[in-house]
Amino acid sequence: MAADSRAARPLQKMFSEVPATYDLINRLFTLRLDQAWRKIAAKECMRENPRLVLDLCTGTGDLALSMAGQARPGMHIAAVDFSLPMLLEGRLKFVAPGQRVGFVLGDVGKLPFREGSFDAIGIAFAFRNLVYKNRERDKYLSEILRVLSPGGKLVIVETSRPRSPLVRLLFHWYMRTAVSFLAGLISGRGAAYKYLAHSAINFYSSGDLSDLLESAGFRRVQYRTFLFGVCALHLAYREGPGNMENS
Ligand SMILES: C[S@@+](CC[C@H](N)C(=O)[O-])C[C@H]1O[C@@H](n2cnc3c(N)ncnc32)[C@H](O)[C@@H]1O
Repeated sequence: MAADSRAARPLQKMFSEVPATYDLINRLFTLRLDQAWRKIAAKECMRENPRLVLDLCTGTGDLALSMAGQARPGMHIAAVDFSLPMLLEGRLKFVAPGQRVGFVLGDVGKLPFREGSFDAIGIAFAFRNLVYKNRERDKYLSEILRVLSPGGKLVIVETSRPRSPLVRLLFHWYMRTAVSFLAGLISGRGAAYKYLAHSAINFYSSGDLSDLLESAGFRRVQYRTFLFGVCALHLAYREGPGNMENS
């Protein structure tokens, strides 16, 4: 695991305080749908037989674990995050032989990988942290594009803004009560879950996120939604005649 000497930033500090209860809260408040959605995202990452895949902002490693479960021989998986406590929690899950994932401590703003390294990049429930009211948003997007191989694929699974006003009302109520209040109580980190609920409530619709990806230089952006639009899976490609171009 490479060292990161930069001073801790607010989000980095916040995520470093929640790993002990992070998985429990995810499973509890989504009734395990989070895992089903990660599995779909992992499948999308693996679809075109990538050689090297990245789980960006891996946290406690659940997407990487799902990728490893679906990987074919010869595929390699890297998982990056800027929170060491999250990475250490994630590493505990990789005990079975053959479940090889390279964990890397690093910041999306300065990814420690060469240009065009990855045929596919997956990001689960963390894209919001990178682009919601984040002044480093443009830098993050161009770094993701840089480390993606020409023709390579970005797969984002993230909460979304439901189109129906009724579903939106229910979703926001659920985020404010269950997630913000109860998850804060269980974890003892009220501020962290208040931020997570607030950012989910105010995050982009699927269409707006597609526009953001297009304007950042991604191509062939497409999406599908789950559970009446509270979650969305976006696919976006780096331009180029790479191995994924004709999928
Ligand atoms: C909500 S968690 C999601 C974790 C995991 N992907 C999952 O599916 O549960 C967000 C993660 O993104 C990481 N993160 C946020 N901003 C980051 C950045 N700029 N560089 C690296 N990791 C970052 C946090 O440390 C945290 O582990």
